[in-house]
Amino acid sequence: MITNRKLEHVEICLYEDIEGYIPTLFDDVVLIHQAMPCLSFNEINTNVKFLNKEISAPLMVTGMTGGNEALGKINATIAEVIEELRLAMGVGSQRIAIERADARESFKIVRKKAPTSPIIANIGAPQLAKGYGLKELKEAVSMIEADAIAVHLNPAQELFQPEGEPEYPSDILIKLRDISKELGVPIIIKETGTGISMETATKFKEIGIKYFDVSGQGGTSWIAVEMVRDKRKNNWKKESAELFAGWGIPTAASIIETRFAVPDAFIIGSGGIRNGLQIAKAIALGADIAGMASPVLKKAVEGKESLVSFFNKVIFELKAAMMLTGAKNVEELKRVPVVIWKELREWMESRGISLSTYEKLRKRE
Ligand SMILES: Cc1cc2nc3c(=O)[nH]c(=O)nc-3n(C[C@H](O)[C@H](O)[C@H](O)COP(=O)(O)O)c2cc1C
Repeated sequence: MITNRKLEHVEICLYEDIEGYIPTLFDDVVLIHQAMPCLSFNEINTNVKFLNKEISAPLMVTGMTGGNEALGKINATIAEVIEELRLAMGVGSQRIAIERADARESFKIVRKKAPTSPIIANIGAPQLAKGYGLKELKEAVSMIEADAIAVHLNPAQELFQPEGEPEYPSDILIKLRDISKELGVPIIIKETGTGISMETATKFKEIGIKYFDVSGQGGTSWIAVEMVRDKRKNNWKKESAELFAGWGIPTAASIIETRFAVPDAFIIGSGGIRNGLQIAKAIALGADIAGMASPVLKKAVEGKESLVSFFNKVIFELKAAMMLTGAKNVEELKRVPVVIWKELREWMESRGISLSTYEKLRKRE
């Protein structure tokens, strides 16, 4: 049942038009061109530390899949490539593998193919509301010898999913606070395409969470994915899902809100990241690394070479943005001058975030 749904999700993300319902607002961020960058292209170093491991670029593949043989193959392709290029990767929700032993191999393959890379386990927050606790989260982590676990928030998806269970009581926060003390690896609070606000980030900061994957709106819309499923099933929710398909916080705004609320957070900027220029903008805005899901899936099904060339192109674009802003490493990229204007600036104003206050926060001063 869950595997069939996961297969349908993958198929919809591959072949239906479910992306870009609203802009990420990265277009409202301008990195300032430096005609005299004082560096050569070969000097640019994109290495960063993530979960105590060094990766070759500030980029991870955010959690997508696992559950059966076909989905395990996609995981294996992504894992091989990220190990080769020294990137990082999350797996999709492991609920299926906690419930069914025969689903485990499709997740374990990731650690086999990527023995040295940062790998992130994944569980949905609603599972915590329904009884999961330290035992299940430890199981998810040990299944793939994960370096961290992402607990994903998806209230919007659950609402519009034909068979969704939108359960988000505050017990989840209390449980997570207790689990985080015993788990042994960091918990990453991860959205799934509708973004993290400053209020939400603050709730998790108060229970000691330091890692956030903002997964903002502008890329894959999970409300739109469920809208397609509602339409196929002629479910009464189909029109409501269409109404809400663009609901959420644009990714650029979500990075700003999360950095504003939790100045010392480790932030993964994701949701609609499609190229290296957007990675550079995400980092200059306040993210520590960027994350991508759907474009990686599309390349992975074409095969390993296709995914390798995609990542190489993206990393070239990131380096190009670094060269043209005069940033020779990622720490310098966090401090390059930027212009934030148009809608993103209005967003900040209306949320009470002044440009001058934010300037210090984004530079981590
Ligand atoms: C096919 C697919 C399956 C996904 N499954 C999960 C999941 O199991 N757990 C999770 O936390 N996020 C899941 N996501 C969400 C992504 O990690 C990401 O947050 C979201 O798609 C936005 O990023 P994008 O615009 O780069 O796709 C999935 C995304 C895709 C495309």
